[in-house]
Amino acid sequence: MKSPLRILHLEDNQADAELVREMLLAEEIDCAVTCVKSPEDYARALEVGDFDLILTDFSLPRFDGLSALSLAREKRPGTPTIFVSGTMGEEAAIRCLQQGATDYVLKDRLARLPSAVRRAVTEAQELALRKKLEAQLLRAQRLETIGALAGGIAHDLNNVLAPILMGTQILGQEVMSEAGRKILETMRARALRGAEMIQQILTFARGVGGEPAMLDPNQLLAEVQSLASETFPRAIRLQLHIPGALHPVLGNATQLHQVLLNLCVNARDAMPHGGSLCLAAQNVTLDKASTRWQPEPVSGEFVLLTVSDTGHGIPPELLDQVFDPFFTTKELGKGTGLGLSTVLGIVKSHGGFLDVSSEVGRGTTFKIYLPANVPRPAPAPEPAPEVSPDI
Ligand SMILES: Nc1ncnc2c1ncn2[C@@H]1O[C@H](COP(=O)(O)OP(=O)(O)OP(=O)(O)O)[C@@H](O)[C@H]1O
Ligand SMILES: [Mg+2]
Repeated sequence: MKSPLRILHLEDNQADAELVREMLLAEEIDCAVTCVKSPEDYARALEVGDFDLILTDFSLPRFDGLSALSLAREKRPGTPTIFVSGTMGEEAAIRCLQQGATDYVLKDRLARLPSAVRRAVTEAQELALRKKLEAQLLRAQRLETIGALAGGIAHDLNNVLAPILMGTQILGQEVMSEAGRKILETMRARALRGAEMIQQILTFARGVGGEPAMLDPNQLLAEVQSLASETFPRAIRLQLHIPGALHPVLGNATQLHQVLLNLCVNARDAMPHGGSLCLAAQNVTLDKASTRWQPEPVSGEFVLLTVSDTGHGIPPELLDQVFDPFFTTKELGKGTGLGLSTVLGIVKSHGGFLDVSSEVGRGTTFKIYLPANVPRPAPAPEPAPEVSPDI
């Protein structure tokens, strides 16, 4: 249960309001109560404040409980409402419950209030969570469908591009002017790039490339960077830092693309007003290294892939949760919360591990360590057995 619990209490009698507050505090329900007396203040509070629970008297001067309830249902649909009343008859209570009240407690049985509050708030939270999970699941299924459709769309697009590519080739032999040739060359290069992107999307949607192969991390990063530079807003500057030749890694290219793309998309989302996104790679030799997500110390040769952004960052208290399936801070319909859990799964299945550092307002850096495939140095020749000289 949230702490402190934000409660809106509609009660015209000061003493009763005090009693309710004391009853909750005595039962160790940490709460911040906003008490209002008039219908106008009640309506205003519903308009501006965010509450976890509404308590309301049933019979009030100039106002009645049922109207208070219907206003609450209209303005704050997910917030549970409990009637706390001295005069509520059985019939009125039933009507309130039918119209969506969560519970009712009589003022002379106030001892029941804390447990009613706990139950109402917990149930409302569970319901909100269930709704969110349902929406996320639907979105995941939609994305799955788009993935399935992408295959067909890519195929059609290939058919669109094929005659353009062929045409530019044939015309290349007929067009003589320098300017005309330049235009044709640009057209051909862009069409080829389009075909390449379609191929990438197709590979990604099919999830093929199943067999592990020896991969060049430079190429992985360059491919992801090129896809990002075609599709991300211009306000996001892309940088690629590769110090030179890297060790190869044994892995699944499609899955590793997916890892890097997920991280890049998260970085993009963290920079709605632009910023810089840097992809980097380097060889590293680890000696009993460990991270928050890899407590067991690791040693050996690794390739370190880094994706860093200058976005809004991740608050420290959320850092532990970001890899949880369905954990998202994005508004409904914008994030499924499956990106990072997939990243973690793929990295682990490659025998690697990861690390994250983030500072709110400054940016985030994800580090992916993949085991490097380093050719073993030839074993040193066995020292020749010592032969004792014949005497
Ligand atoms: N680079 C980042 N900067 C800031 N926050 C991030 C970053 N990457 C991840 N996060 C946080 O971690 C959460 C979980 O990320 P994850 O990729 O798993 O899900 P999502 O992006 O919300 O949804 P999905 O990837 O399924 O569309 C995000 O909602 C966001 O709060
Ligand atoms: Mg994501």
